[in-house]
Amino acid sequence: MSPRKIIIDTDPGQDDAVAILLALASPDELDVLGITAVAGNVPLHLTQKNARIVCELAGKPDTLVFAGCDAPLSRKLVTAEHVHGKTGLDGPTLPDPTMPLQDQHAVDYIIETLRAEEQGTVTLCPLGPLTNIAVALQRAPDIADRIQEIVLMGGAYFEVGNITPTAEFNIYVDPEAAKVVFACGAPITVMPLDVTHKALVTAERNAAFRALGTPVGVAVAEMTDFFERFDKEKYGSAGAPLHDPCVSAYLIRPDLFTGRQINVEIETGSDLTLGMTVADWWGVTDRAPNATFMGDIDANGFFALLTERLGRL
Ligand code: RIB
Ligand code: CA
Repeated sequence: MSPRKIIIDTDPGQDDAVAILLALASPDELDVLGITAVAGNVPLHLTQKNARIVCELAGKPDTLVFAGCDAPLSRKLVTAEHVHGKTGLDGPTLPDPTMPLQDQHAVDYIIETLRAEEQGTVTLCPLGPLTNIAVALQRAPDIADRIQEIVLMGGAYFEVGNITPTAEFNIYVDPEAAKVVFACGAPITVMPLDVTHKALVTAERNAAFRALGTPVGVAVAEMTDFFERFDKEKYGSAGAPLHDPCVSAYLIRPDLFTGRQINVEIETGSDLTLGMTVADWWGVTDRAPNATFMGDIDANGFFALLTERLGRL
């Protein structure tokens, strides 16, 4: 079977970095057409730089990296240096990138690629706020039925919020963009906090990264050592939740995940619950299902896959 064509839309972010590494380590399953950076965890000038740092760490300097939107559709940017550090990739010391940033705007690249590739053969993998994807859909509504699938990290139901009591960060930063994406009609698969909070980098799992003894293995161990502080303090969790790598892992091994087809709406009107993913998990409304919302993960299987693939870089 030929590898699945994907565009990774990202705001690196240590967990984004691991998701990109997993995807680039899996060329038999995934053909990374391009990586589009968006403002999120840190401002755009850092997310586009971090995306290139990670591609070079993976030994893939020919990867096409594009810069996209530097602010949400209609709100001030909210960033997460408190989680990811000033650079967005705190933890390891990694060299500045020498590979080029593409001149084309990320949104134009997304539109052009979806129009150029055969219909239904490109999967979009948003790992940050959905601004780039929403602007592409608004500017070119025809692309909606050209998308094979949107597999995104964002939202929560049982886990509720991580940036406010009711909202997950990616959705909260640009709820209007999320509303556009969830209404676009393309097949959507959601990796919410309900799943990613079960993908914790315990000390043993971190040691397995480090034991790879490669620059990638050591860098990932150092990233998650840094990144775990926030969740350990807040939730008392056993390690860093690997949010975004759940997207890459799903594309390689969907059997590691279980979920259900439900309706998901985005709160954009209430200040109290702004950015909440109102997930009809129990089917109590007559709202039509618009997403496959994941609820569980085989965490040991996930880490076995991730560690093996990181070892290939
Ligand atoms: O809430 C977790 C999400 O927000 C992850 O994608 C993380 O990288 C941040 O973007
Ligand atoms: Ca992210």
